Amino acid sequence: MSHSSKKLVAPSILSADFANLEKEILAVSKAGADWIHVDVMDGHFVPNITIGIPVVKSLKKISPIPLDVHLMITEPEKYIEDFIKAGSDYLTIHIESTKTPEAVLRRIRELGAKAGITLRPGTPVSAVLPLLPLCDLVLVMTVEPGFGGQSFMYDQVAKITALRSEIQKMNLDCLIEVDGGINAETAKICFEADVFVAGNFVFSQDYEGAISVLKKGESPSSR
Ligand code: DX5
Ligand code: ZN
Repeated sequence: MSHSSKKLVAPSILSADFANLEKEILAVSKAGADWIHVDVMDGHFVPNITIGIPVVKSLKKISPIPLDVHLMITEPEKYIEDFIKAGSDYLTIHIESTKTPEAVLRRIRELGAKAGITLRPGTPVSAVLPLLPLCDLVLVMTVEPGFGGQSFMYDQVAKITALRSEIQKMNLDCLIEVDGGINAETAKICFEADVFVAGNFVFSQDYEGAISVLKKGESPSSR
């Protein structure tokens, strides 16, 4: 199956050295990263505050690869235009964060970015299925959003399988991304995903080694 062969890797800069973001981004890009994953938190939707629009704008100037921006903020509709102007290539919103996810996803595309939807571990996958035709990406959270370095939630993997079958059934061009606690072992379990986000795993060791392990993304059936 094509989706099980070539994997994309998106290192999460939440685990990078914030005093040296340019250096870190250039280093992971050189080490084979496909996208830079940017975690935006507002202290309301999640109990943590990270970075915002001015930082995305600065990263865009120096990043040789696309910016994959994961919004963990309430009322994302108020900010999507600014995040896209700042240079977000992919812009992902949480279904729980807005009353009008359809309109927000349509607007993201109208503004020229790729639209992504994501869901908290407690939200059933059925909630996002009707939105898939409006999305270029669907992100499965395998930790509770808010912090890097948490343990992978194995009970979320079934969502990837459900999404894969729905995307095939509807014949959609929508990537499946997985985020939270991804390492060499958990990535194998998520073999049906297309894109692996990894913070701690990539930034705590040799970047090239970590990224190449994730990129293999072997499926048990393809061995
Ligand atoms: C969690 C973020 C993740 C996180 C991943 O809210 O969405 O992107 O940084 O970090 P690791 O790979 O360390 O779990
Ligand atoms: Zn993320």
